[in-house]
Amino acid sequence: MAWIVIGYLSGSWLAAISVCRAAGVSDPRCCGSCNPGFSNVLRLYGPRLAGATLVLDALKGVPVVLASKVMALPISWQGLIGLSVMLGHSYPVWYGFRGGKAVASALGVLLVLVPGVALISAAIWALLAWRLKTAALASLMSALIAPLACVWLAPSYVGVVGCLSLLVLLRHWLNIRRLRRGEEPRLRKP
Ligand code: G3P
Repeated sequence: MAWIVIGYLSGSWLAAISVCRAAGVSDPRCCGSCNPGFSNVLRLYGPRLAGATLVLDALKGVPVVLASKVMALPISWQGLIGLSVMLGHSYPVWYGFRGGKAVASALGVLLVLVPGVALISAAIWALLAWRLKTAALASLMSALIAPLACVWLAPSYVGVVGCLSLLVLLRHWLNIRRLRRGEEPRLRKP
C-alpha cells in the first residue's frame, strides 16, 4: 500500500508546470490546449522545453515501479503501482486534482514493465504526431496498440497494460470530442 501512495505522490508532480516556470514562460494550463503535458508545451514553446517535460514526466514514476519489479511483486501489484503514478499525474494532489493525460508517465511505467511495448508505442506516437501533427490522435493510437503489442511481447502483462491504456483513453475524452468536431489543436511544425 505504501508503494501505491508513493507512486501517486511522485506522479502528482507535473513536470510541465515546473519546466515552464523555470524557463520563465507562461503556465501551460493557461494556453494552447491548457493541458499540463509535453504535447502542449511542444505546441506552445517548442521541442527543448517539451523534451525536458517528457523526460521528467516519464522518469518520475520509474524508481517506484522499478522497485516493485526488482522486489518481484506480483504483476498485478506492479500494475497497480504504475497505475498510481499515472493517476497521480492525472489527478495531482499538489494541483487541485487537475492534471494531465498520463501519456508521458505511461511511457515511463511501460519502459520499466514492458520495455519492448514502450518502444513500439513511443515509435508509433512519434510517427503519427510527425505525420498528422495531432498529439491526441498519436496518443490514442499508441494506447490502443500497446496491449496488442503486449500480446506478442509480454503476454503476462496484457491485463496490466490494458488498464494503463484505458486510463489514457479515458483522459482523452475531451480530445475525442474535439476531434469529432474537427476542433483539435494541432502541434506546431518543428
Ligand atoms: O500527451 C497528451 C496528448 O495526447 C494530448 O495533449 O495538449 O493536445 O490535449 P493536448
